[in-house]
Amino acid sequence: MSQVAGRMAVDVGAYHLLKPHGGRGLLLGGAPGVPPAKVLILGGGVAGKHAAEMAVGQRADVTLFDISAQRLEELDDQFGGRLKTCYSTPDLIGAALPDADLVIGAVLIPGAAAPKLVKRADLGRMKAGSVLVDVAIDQGGCFETSHPTTHADPTFVVDDVIHYCVANMPGAAPLTSTYALSAATGPYILNLARKGVDRAIAEDPGFAAGVNVRAGRIEHPAVARSLGFH
Ligand SMILES: NC(=O)c1ccc[n+]([C@@H]2O[C@H](COP(=O)([O-])OP(=O)(O)OC[C@H]3O[C@@H](n4cnc5c(N)ncnc54)[C@H](O)[C@@H]3O)[C@@H](O)[C@H]2O)c1
Repeated sequence: MSQVAGRMAVDVGAYHLLKPHGGRGLLLGGAPGVPPAKVLILGGGVAGKHAAEMAVGQRADVTLFDISAQRLEELDDQFGGRLKTCYSTPDLIGAALPDADLVIGAVLIPGAAAPKLVKRADLGRMKAGSVLVDVAIDQGGCFETSHPTTHADPTFVVDDVIHYCVANMPGAAPLTSTYALSAATGPYILNLARKGVDRAIAEDPGFAAGVNVRAGRIEHPAVARSLGFH
């Protein structure tokens, strides 16, 4: 679902940058003789990488921030110079915001709320009609001014900056999402049916790592912590 949401983040961002949709009136890829829009992607995991693919594909000027040096190196290799990568610190993100047209938030710290990488005070330094897409909203969001929205009313404006914070983005593309989810989960379901719960967990480390609750006990440490059990 992060693949789908990451790809969609660029579509919805580009849509809201257009003037009739409240944005600055900017085409993501610019035009011959006119520079492209500046896109910042915060988090270079699954969603961030797929957002980068779409934004680079649309010829935007894209910079991706991550805290993992290894991940930045992988992405730098994969994109062969078409993507700028930057180590993520509050100062470096803050310095890039005044020039940004579209910011996509796609960070994840497993088992914890997303860090607030764009603060309310930063919005005043951004251009009017720029767009924030908070993919990480399902984990609390990585912009201080985010709150969850739905496809029925996906955006709101704070300090002239458009916020898109739909907590279930893939729900807008149910055909694509259902096929993608079925392809990913199908092998696990077959395994479970063939082996039964106990054998599947014992033989497949992937299953074991994914167990949240078993026989009335919370097994996953991050889930237990988030619910106040230690
Ligand atoms: N809104 C939706 O519909 C929707 C759909 C799918 C996923 N999501 C959410 O999108 C988010 C990203 O998911 P993912 O699968 O790509 O996660 P992931 O674990 O693959 O990637 C997260 C990345 O964030 C990076 N990161 C952590 N802290 C950072 C920081 N301070 N600055 C920059 N980067 C930082 C990590 O190093 C990692 O590379 C999650 O919160 C997930 O729940 C939302």
